Amino acid sequence: MIEAKLKELIEDMSVEEKVGQLVMLEGSYFEKDALVTGNINENNCDTESLKAFAGSTIGISGAETVRSIQKKQMEDQPHHIPMLFMLDVIHGYRTVFTCPLGQGASFDPEMSRKCAEIAAREAAASGIHIVFSPMADLVRDSRWGRVMESTGEDVYLNGRMASAMVKGYQGDNAGDPLRVGACVKHFAGYGAPVAGREYYNVELSEHTLREYYLPAYQKAVESGCEMVMSAFNTWNGIPCSGNRWLMKDVLRDEMGFDGVVISDWGAVAEMTMHGFCRDNREAAGAALKAGVDIDMCGNAYAEHLAELVAKGDIDSSLLDEAVMRVLRLKNKLGLFENPYKDADIRLEREIILSKEHRELAREMVRKSIVLLKNDKYDDENVLPLKKGKLAFIGPYVDNADMDSSWAVNGDVLDQISIKKAALEFWDKGDLLFADGCTMLDNHTVGARYYYEDEAFCSKNDSLLKQAVEAAKCADTLVLCLGEHRAQSGEASSRARIKLPKVQLNLLRELARSGKTIITLIFSGRPLELEEILKYSHAVMMVWLPGTEGGHGIMDVLTGKHNPSAKLPISIPYNEGQLPISYDQYSTGRPRTGIHTGEYTSGYIDVPNEPLLPFGYGLSYTDFNISKVSLSSDHMLEDGTITATVRISNQGDVEGTETLQLYLQDVAASRVRPILQLKGFKKISLKAGEEKLVSFCISKEQLSFIRADGSYGCEEGIFRLWIDNSSKVKEPVTFELIKKG
Ligand code: GLC
Repeated sequence: MIEAKLKELIEDMSVEEKVGQLVMLEGSYFEKDALVTGNINENNCDTESLKAFAGSTIGISGAETVRSIQKKQMEDQPHHIPMLFMLDVIHGYRTVFTCPLGQGASFDPEMSRKCAEIAAREAAASGIHIVFSPMADLVRDSRWGRVMESTGEDVYLNGRMASAMVKGYQGDNAGDPLRVGACVKHFAGYGAPVAGREYYNVELSEHTLREYYLPAYQKAVESGCEMVMSAFNTWNGIPCSGNRWLMKDVLRDEMGFDGVVISDWGAVAEMTMHGFCRDNREAAGAALKAGVDIDMCGNAYAEHLAELVAKGDIDSSLLDEAVMRVLRLKNKLGLFENPYKDADIRLEREIILSKEHRELAREMVRKSIVLLKNDKYDDENVLPLKKGKLAFIGPYVDNADMDSSWAVNGDVLDQISIKKAALEFWDKGDLLFADGCTMLDNHTVGARYYYEDEAFCSKNDSLLKQAVEAAKCADTLVLCLGEHRAQSGEASSRARIKLPKVQLNLLRELARSGKTIITLIFSGRPLELEEILKYSHAVMMVWLPGTEGGHGIMDVLTGKHNPSAKLPISIPYNEGQLPISYDQYSTGRPRTGIHTGEYTSGYIDVPNEPLLPFGYGLSYTDFNISKVSLSSDHMLEDGTITATVRISNQGDVEGTETLQLYLQDVAASRVRPILQLKGFKKISLKAGEEKLVSFCISKEQLSFIRADGSYGCEEGIFRLWIDNSSKVKEPVTFELIKKG
């Protein structure tokens, strides 16, 4: 439909109809089995007219269901305006990929683009128009359960991944066949709640917000993201959904976003709970004035917008602008011409969980696995696995539920468990399996507060005995341990980031067997790993690997594929170090600086550095990286400088290394991080092969928000590293010289 027709449509709509376009109703209004991913907010509206006028819904999928609901909606809606069907497709629809934190570990944006593309195809065929992904929140506190949904702690990596995911979902146009609109979230700064406590306030300076937390959202917007979601949290004491500076001055004026803003679930009305608005009526006005177009599953817009306009408390032009953005999006998706878009029962059956989709999921698992430890005995590494009797032990062995809590359409029955995959790779006679313990220290996850009782303890006693017996008959033990899927994700902050006690007890008991122990960690967040590393001869972080978890993990355990992933988030010694990130500032008393004694910055009980650093990950082969050579020892502001290393594969198997470019501005008008990632390249080398790899540095990588608020670079000395983790060695330096 042409824009002029949209204007005519708006002119012809009643205020109630216009408000309807700004209301997203829970799917349960339309289908009793709809997925509900938030609190149900009661309202005092007439349900039938609320439904008839609703502009969008959430939690409904399936081609047949969507088509029938849309058909009825078109009949009931006075101007036959189609609804938007939106869903949390965070890391896959039915083919569930590794959780986003694991995708960040791949350092492979192209892989994430492909996964998003497949997710779009499956979701679109099932009637979905918009997905609430990518989640581009920067995260540095793994007490927060939603680190699982992020691609990690680094500004540059998150920006690359967010951009890739938007392109995967939308392609060149979200209205194209089997494409969906992407909704980047949660704007802004939701990943930095004080104390890692879910739904808590965010205390960031404007400078920190701009330097660290905004760039990844901006990359998503620059990649054409169709929608932005306003976050639950406050920034600068103002809830995001009512924060005009954030949602208008920054998002729309500075970043140039002219698409639809949707609130997070109920976030508009929650501004009263924040103590920002006296009541829902005030919240509705504040949100519309801040540029929030759709009130997700709240009651503020539905109950108050029409009256606010009628009384002149908000200008009707604000309402019309918001409605126009929503109608423009529907138009872009082609819904006025075809309200069902790609919802197609045959196509749905044909493409969902197809062989190609499973293959990609398996490849993503392989490329997300981080090898954290791999001891060597008699000149041979523990991994890849050797022939002999293997005992797979732990609650993740026969548990096919390797999805995250956000894999809302994933089905355990589709999944390949460790046990199932192992039986495909080895003779049954060489394998033993034992649960070893329950997944958790209590009966259910829902309780949240763990307790034990006699029945529970005796069950674990017998599971442990079976595991110890199995270990006696095996040469190598493969422990499959980790968090339950419901221990990370939304509303899953944890004050302690340990493995459950029953699992640690199993590990300690099996360590007494004297057998070789390989431990796989299934988790949506970094956990305390010190004891696991101590008792294991090899450790792999496999995250929450999804549908093809068992296959992808076996591909790496057997050496069919060499692990290549790197940590996208620091792994702390314990939660006392949190929040933590590699790109921290120095201090006046750095522990490695001129001061060496007690009066230096740090703790007396743990180091300042994490247990395992951002960017770290081992391979089955050995790479050698030469010292960096620079094309010059100085750079003009509008010039470039090239940094080159020679990398060689000194092992006897092919492998892929991730070369990481780090820079430090040694002295600047605002203090700068001791180092920051400014580029990375994945380099694959055959055994014995070597390559020269170069990075071109320009002023963009040296620029920052200077003390006067302007963005740009400053002359002076820069340190530069090219290495395989953020635990870098000696730098090379160059000087930036301004013209003249
Ligand atoms: C949730 C989450 C958000 C999600 C939305 C819809 O509360 O914060 O990430 O997309 O509601 O389920």
